[in-house]
Amino acid sequence: MNDPGQFFFVACQGGSENVCKSQMQSARPDARLAFSRPGFLTYKVESPNPLPEDLQLKNAFVRTAGVCLQRVDGKSIDELASSFWEAVKDQRWRQLHVWSRLPELAGGKPGSGSSRGPAVEPALAALTGNRPPEIAAVSINGVAAPGERVLNCILVDDGQWWVGVHRAAATPTRWPGGVPPFQPPEQMISRAYLKMREALAWSQMPIASGDICFEIGSSPGGAAQALLEAGLQVIGVDPAEMDERVMQHESFSHIRKRGRDVKRRDFAAAKWLVVDSNVAPEQTLDTVRDIVTHDSVRIRGMLLTLKFPKWSAAGALDDYLARIREWGFQHVKPRQLAYNRQEVCVAAFKNRSMRRFAGGQRKKH
Ligand SMILES: C[S@@+](CC[C@H](N)C(=O)[O-])C[C@H]1O[C@@H](n2cnc3c(N)ncnc32)[C@H](O)[C@@H]1O
Repeated sequence: MNDPGQFFFVACQGGSENVCKSQMQSARPDARLAFSRPGFLTYKVESPNPLPEDLQLKNAFVRTAGVCLQRVDGKSIDELASSFWEAVKDQRWRQLHVWSRLPELAGGKPGSGSSRGPAVEPALAALTGNRPPEIAAVSINGVAAPGERVLNCILVDDGQWWVGVHRAAATPTRWPGGVPPFQPPEQMISRAYLKMREALAWSQMPIASGDICFEIGSSPGGAAQALLEAGLQVIGVDPAEMDERVMQHESFSHIRKRGRDVKRRDFAAAKWLVVDSNVAPEQTLDTVRDIVTHDSVRIRGMLLTLKFPKWSAAGALDDYLARIREWGFQHVKPRQLAYNRQEVCVAAFKNRSMRRFAGGQRKKH
């Protein structure tokens, strides 16, 4: 008898499918691409062992992942919702995450994908309206606690949802669809505010109030807004103007220069370095190398945005990470954040105690 195999799903940003697939070839050479749509890929694995529900895929372009349970089809959203509840009636779970393969992000603009996934709100209403009475009190789309078993209702197309499951571990696996549930503040200076909040939450950079953080490429100031909110003293480096609201903050100062024109010893008091300049990754890394390898500098952790003018440049990602390690940052991890565009965020820390992002939360059974 043919073994039907097991399937897992992967969510990635619309537009990143090819780079995600090519990274998957090295992360899981045993897995074969099966059904896929923009932002949603499934893989088949033939193995006698059950797939673990906390799939830890070494792939920077995976936003979240889990084991496929089944597909449900329906002609109406109510039919889909009823089929979903029927499909999961024997499952034990603590959280339900309902998300679209191409999510709408708070603060506007999703990734570069052209198509749109189904909207979440009508699905939520149908799932709530059709749910069995015994789970009437269950909340949907909450942040899962580490170790919780999460059911995923993935809105793949208007007539088709997928049911999956994963075990929450590292921070993004606790968010519905791997997208942080942040709301923009009333006066958001730029979308980089949300990107920085996500980078801080994902990397768990152990910042303390009053720490000094340099940000290269700081204009107009969304990321600085998030860093200031987190209690840091921020020194923004950018030849362009900063937003007045950031300039007026008592913990912010601006060096109106390019990164490489700032004297290396001016970075001496900094503990953290953030870079988000719109230049090629090589140029970002050259600037960072000159700073962090200088004798007077004691940077302990960095959040670097590496921008890829073309996706083909992402093939060099491993080389970029190797370069960063050579400067004494032993714990380096990349992720295409939900709020990243054609770019990835790299978190790099010097000490092991800082490395909390690699599924650092212990698993509960
Ligand atoms: C994507 S924007 C940064 C957004 C910003 N982080 C925020 O939170 O609003 C890129 C910025 O990089 C700046 N930039 C480009 N080359 C730079 C360099 N060599 N040094 C410093 N800033 C640079 C640009 O002036 C631009 O403001």
